[in-house]
Amino acid sequence: MIRHELEHHGHRYQRAHQDLVLALEQETLGTDYGANGYTTIDQGNRLGALLDLDVDDVLLDLGSGCGWPGLHLAKDNGCRVIGVDPVIEGATVARSRAIEDDMAERALAVVGDGTDLPVRGRSIDAIVHSDML
Ligand SMILES: C[S@@+](CC[C@H](N)C(=O)[O-])C[C@H]1O[C@@H](n2cnc3c(N)ncnc32)[C@H](O)[C@@H]1O
Repeated sequence: MIRHELEHHGHRYQRAHQDLVLALEQETLGTDYGANGYTTIDQGNRLGALLDLDVDDVLLDLGSGCGWPGLHLAKDNGCRVIGVDPVIEGATVARSRAIEDDMAERALAVVGDGTDLPVRGRSIDAIVHSDML
């Protein structure tokens, strides 16, 4: 990822919890995670229904930003989640949200690159990637 993209997303994630930004997110997507894309709460819930996750599953959220939608899916389904994104500001917000939602033990926010994943083979049960090419 090139430097100006890292900075762009980093600035976006630093503002994720400003009142106006949250109000816009809630109004347009129906979420309050600091989402940085176009995936609505209904679409996120449809993903959850399709994946049919349970408490023994590990979900990988690629390009997880501030944790949307991986944290939401893990909260709803009780599974574990690993979010991977190269932007540290997003991982910081995601980690705080996991603690706030009492999911610190089962939600990891990893600063990393999806093209060189820091996970062992066969350790992941499902993958989501919301608004990441
Ligand atoms: C449009 S944002 C979507 C973030 C989040 N999924 C959401 O819906 O709010 C795309 C994200 O992909 C991340 N990204 C870009 N290249 C990546 C890569 N090689 N590996 C992991 N994440 C990457 C960016 O840093 C950014 O946070």
